[in-house]
Amino acid sequence: MEITNDIRYAGVNDHEVDLFEGQFTVEHGMAYNSYVIMDEKIAVFDTVDARFGEEWLANAASVFGSRQPDYLIIQHMEPDHSANIVKFMETYPDAKIAASAKAFSMMKQFYGSDFSDRQVVLKDGDTLSLGKHSLTFIAAPMVHWPEVLVTYDACDKVLFSADGFGKFGALDIEEDWACEARRYYFGIVGKFGAQVQNLLKKAAGLDIQTICPLHGPVLKENLSYYIGLYNTWSSYSAETKGVTIAYASAYGNTKKAAELLAEKLYEKGCPKVALNDLARCDMAEAVEDAFRYEKLALASPTYNGDVFPFMREFIHDLKERNYQNRTIGLIENGSWAPTAAKTMQKMLESCKNLNFTNTTVKIMSALDEDSLAMIDAMAEELCSD
Ligand code: FEO
Repeated sequence: MEITNDIRYAGVNDHEVDLFEGQFTVEHGMAYNSYVIMDEKIAVFDTVDARFGEEWLANAASVFGSRQPDYLIIQHMEPDHSANIVKFMETYPDAKIAASAKAFSMMKQFYGSDFSDRQVVLKDGDTLSLGKHSLTFIAAPMVHWPEVLVTYDACDKVLFSADGFGKFGALDIEEDWACEARRYYFGIVGKFGAQVQNLLKKAAGLDIQTICPLHGPVLKENLSYYIGLYNTWSSYSAETKGVTIAYASAYGNTKKAAELLAEKLYEKGCPKVALNDLARCDMAEAVEDAFRYEKLALASPTYNGDVFPFMREFIHDLKERNYQNRTIGLIENGSWAPTAAKTMQKMLESCKNLNFTNTTVKIMSALDEDSLAMIDAMAEELCSD
């Protein structure tokens, strides 16, 4: 695949992966992207997952033709991109390897060698000339590991963005970008909004016409749309008007309350309600929804004096990702001493800028006239601006 006259795609599609990074379901697989710049010198950006080493080397070799690569540039050491470093360096003994100092120390940890006699150590602002292509390296710590560099090629106005602007899904599948990019972002990078904001500020000074991420498609058109979404996500602003309802239910009574709240919200004109059964849904989808929509309702039984286990995990996932700037309604259920609402509020107390609705719904075992009225009142509050 030709990206520009001199830049070619050499990555692979993975339809075998069961859980990406050992935890995320990827219905449509995953792409591990790698790029080659053909100039007076040849540079290769990043390797691919361990299982695809031979395929990747063959892709790259077909781009090189009769020539030999000069540089392997490692922007990110997570093994989905670094697993074939040793293979590459053995195949091309004259090639140098360029990466940040931190990446080289991770290289030694992961693979037992940091190729000390073949290194080009890069830091923020360094440049590397390949001929007409001059590459500028930009430190992007915690997007999403500390060693990360992204790279700007001023010649073709390309930003090689490492994990930034990546998404779940292989490249031979046609699907909406935002849906799987958002789940990827909040699943993997969501905690590091401040660092993504820093990177966006640095990138704002560059004339970028193409973004080459390490996952997902190469982005060439309408870049302001993608950059705008990254700005929204990394600033923890709501992207879409609406309410996420996340519930856990032991016998269906809390579920009934969550579903009734959804109905009431629609009746009162809420444009979108995302209803998630935390015991059964993809937790990463529920997390994505919580960050996407401007309001959130949490419904849980009281369980062992705490909240239901799936709710505990969900709230932990939100906190871990710096959940903030939202309005939250709480629904608790209990048969003798309901305390789930208090527990959920306490769990969220370290989050910045959360507002709780005046109404907290208390259900004693099953919905009754009182709790029905409370759900109506909460729906009213969640629908108001
Ligand atoms: Fe795609 Fe952070 O690795």
